[in-house]
Amino acid sequence: MSDVTEDIEIRLLLEALHQRYHYDFRHYAQASIRRRLRQARQQLGFATFSAMQEALLHDEAMLPRLLGYLTVQVSEMFRDPSYFRALRENVVPHLRTYPSLKVWIAGCSGGEELYSLVILFREEGLEERTLFYATDISQDALETAARGIYPLDRIALFTENHRASGGKSSLSDYYTTAYGNAAFDKSLRDRVVFSDHSLVTDAVFAEMHLISCRNVMIYFDRALQDRAIGLFRDSLVRNGFLGLGAKESIRFSAHGNAFGDFVRTEKIYQRRDI
Ligand SMILES: C[S@@+](CC[C@H](N)C(=O)[O-])C[C@H]1O[C@@H](n2cnc3c(N)ncnc32)[C@H](O)[C@@H]1O
Repeated sequence: MSDVTEDIEIRLLLEALHQRYHYDFRHYAQASIRRRLRQARQQLGFATFSAMQEALLHDEAMLPRLLGYLTVQVSEMFRDPSYFRALRENVVPHLRTYPSLKVWIAGCSGGEELYSLVILFREEGLEERTLFYATDISQDALETAARGIYPLDRIALFTENHRASGGKSSLSDYYTTAYGNAAFDKSLRDRVVFSDHSLVTDAVFAEMHLISCRNVMIYFDRALQDRAIGLFRDSLVRNGFLGLGAKESIRFSAHGNAFGDFVRTEKIYQRRDI
């Protein structure tokens, strides 16, 4: 199959996915999407992307299978501990000045980032006054996040990250183990709203004090990154905080001047008071 034909077929497949199911991957970074779709085509046993498109249009069972290939679900608790340390040391003192708080974890995947933040807020005495919104486009990811159960073999890394982030307690205070898994305490979810939300197609969540959206925009093209950053700007209170992933930045965004650097090395920004 020539590259030109493959490009046409991929474009049509993504168009079909959007028109039929409203999932919009048309402006995700092309190289990564092409790689994922090639893998899906091979593993699902289709000779061409056109055949895959036909199956997708006529069989709803294809949708979750394809979505599983299109989104990357890699995550870990207290990933990049220095980011969480900076939140604790630099952002929390500002958050303390508010009587009530809203935090949005956009692209929360299986919940690792969410639990990290809830634990951090509990340790800092802010959990009780906070509402957490955990959103993603993947239903599977949201279900995993709402369960809060992770294989025990991941816990050593999570524990080490928690310690390196300045954790004030032992991570083992927050989970119980059984059958090779660690189940995080359901009280950690008391103040969490889980919701299906796409940064590509959905609207703002208003009045957030902190938005943490890490390792999601790396999969977007420039126009889509601009859309997401515009959404964050409009969702934050004045002087609210935005935390991105280590490889992400608002520097080149059309909305870059709506934010100032807060902890530059950790990609933590503050919405300007304008
Ligand atoms: C690599 S994971 C990042 C997980 C976590 N934030 C972290 O940094 O560890 C990327 C997540 O973004 C989600 N995602 C992809 N496109 C999205 C969109 N348009 N809106 C919201 N979430 C999206 C994926 O489903 C996936 O759960």
